[in-house]
Amino acid sequence: MKLNKGVVIFVLIIAMLGCKNTQVKNRSFDAKKLLKHSVLKVKEAADYLTATDSFPRHIPEGELKWECVGVRDWCSGFWPGVLWYAYEFSGDEEIKEQAQQFTAPLKEIAYTPALDHDIGFQMFPSYGNAYRLTGNDQYKEILLSAADTLATLYNPIVGSIHSWPMKPQYPHNTIIDNMMNLELLFWAAKNGGGKHLRDIAENHAEVTMKNIVRPDYSAYHLASFDDKTGAFIEGKAHQGYADNSMWARGQTWGIYGFAIAYRETGRKDFLETSMKMADKFIERLPEDGIPFWDFDDPAIPNTPKDASAAAVAACGMFELYELLNDQASKQKYYDEAVELLKRLSTDDYLSADANVAILEHSVGHMPKKWEIDVPIIYADYYYLEALLRLKKLQDKV
Ligand code: GLY
Repeated sequence: MKLNKGVVIFVLIIAMLGCKNTQVKNRSFDAKKLLKHSVLKVKEAADYLTATDSFPRHIPEGELKWECVGVRDWCSGFWPGVLWYAYEFSGDEEIKEQAQQFTAPLKEIAYTPALDHDIGFQMFPSYGNAYRLTGNDQYKEILLSAADTLATLYNPIVGSIHSWPMKPQYPHNTIIDNMMNLELLFWAAKNGGGKHLRDIAENHAEVTMKNIVRPDYSAYHLASFDDKTGAFIEGKAHQGYADNSMWARGQTWGIYGFAIAYRETGRKDFLETSMKMADKFIERLPEDGIPFWDFDDPAIPNTPKDASAAAVAACGMFELYELLNDQASKQKYYDEAVELLKRLSTDDYLSADANVAILEHSVGHMPKKWEIDVPIIYADYYYLEALLRLKKLQDKV
C-alpha cells in the first residue's frame, strides 16, 4: 500500500498531541505545590527531632508528634529517606545535614548479622538515596555491605530470602513485602557486588511469583516452605484480614516490587505480574479511590482506609509508566497514579495542622490492633517519592 506522506505526518502529529494532552490534563494537579507543602511539614518535624538514633514511625491518635523507634526497627530508614527526598526537591542544605545525621546510625545494620529481610527497607531509602544524591563513595561501600548481609538470609534450596527468622513456626518463610528488598541486591550487583546478588534477587522474585501471588493476582502475605526440600507448605495472613484476603499494602508491595524486578531483569513474567496485580488493585478500589486496609474486610465500609497502600501503589504505577512502551497501558497507569496522588492530596488525607505528618489514615497491623488509622512514616515516604516522580515527568513536558 502506498502511504501518503502528508497523511502519515498528520497522524503522527495528532498522536503526539494526544499523548501530550493527557499529561497536560494531569498538569492541573500541581505536584510542585504539594511538594512545597510537604517540605514545610518535614521541616516542622525535623525542628524537634534532634536525637538522630531514634526514628519517627507513627503518630498516636490525637498526638502532634512522631513516636520514635530504634535503628533496628523495620521503619528506621524512612525518616532519613523523607529528609533526602525533601532535600532533593528543595536543595535546602539544612535538610541535607539532617538527612546525613539520620542516615549515619543505620550503618550498623550493614555490618552486623541480619535479623530479618527488612535490610532493604532500612538501607535503600536512607543510604540508597544518600548515594544517589551525593555520589559519596562511603555510602556506596555501606550499601554493598548491606546487600551482602541481606544475602545471608537466602536459602538456595527454596530459592528465596528467609524474611522472618524470628518466627520458628515457619522454618523458612517469605513475605510479599520482601519484593521491595530486592532493589538493594539488584543495585549492588551492578555496582561492584557479586553477580550472585542479582541471581538471588531474580530467584526470589520467581519463587514469590509462583507461590505468594495467587492465580487471581492477589497475594498471600506470607508463604511458608520446607527449608530442607524447598516445597511450598502454605500461604498465610499476617497483617491482612484472612489467609485468602487481599491485604492492601501487600498488594502494593507486589505491584511495585515486580515492576522493579522487571526493570532489572527484563523478564516479561515479572512485568505481567506487576501489571495484573495493579489491575486487580484498581478494579477493586472503593469509590473514593483509596483502599481500605484489606479489600476483603467484611466490615467495609466501616473500617479504616490505608493511605500508605495508595502511596506505594502510586509509586509502582509510575514505575510501570516509565517501563512500558505500549501507549495505552502507559497512560492507564500514569492516570491511575495521578488519581491516587490527587485523592491523597485532599483535606480527607492531608494532615494539615492536625500533626507534623504529611498524611493521615494509614494502618500498620490491624490484627494486632496496632497503628490503626494513624499517620505512619512510610506513607509520607512513598507519597513524597510519588510526588517527585510526577514532578519530574511534568517537568519533561
Ligand atoms: N513490611 C511490613 C508492612 O508493610 O507493614
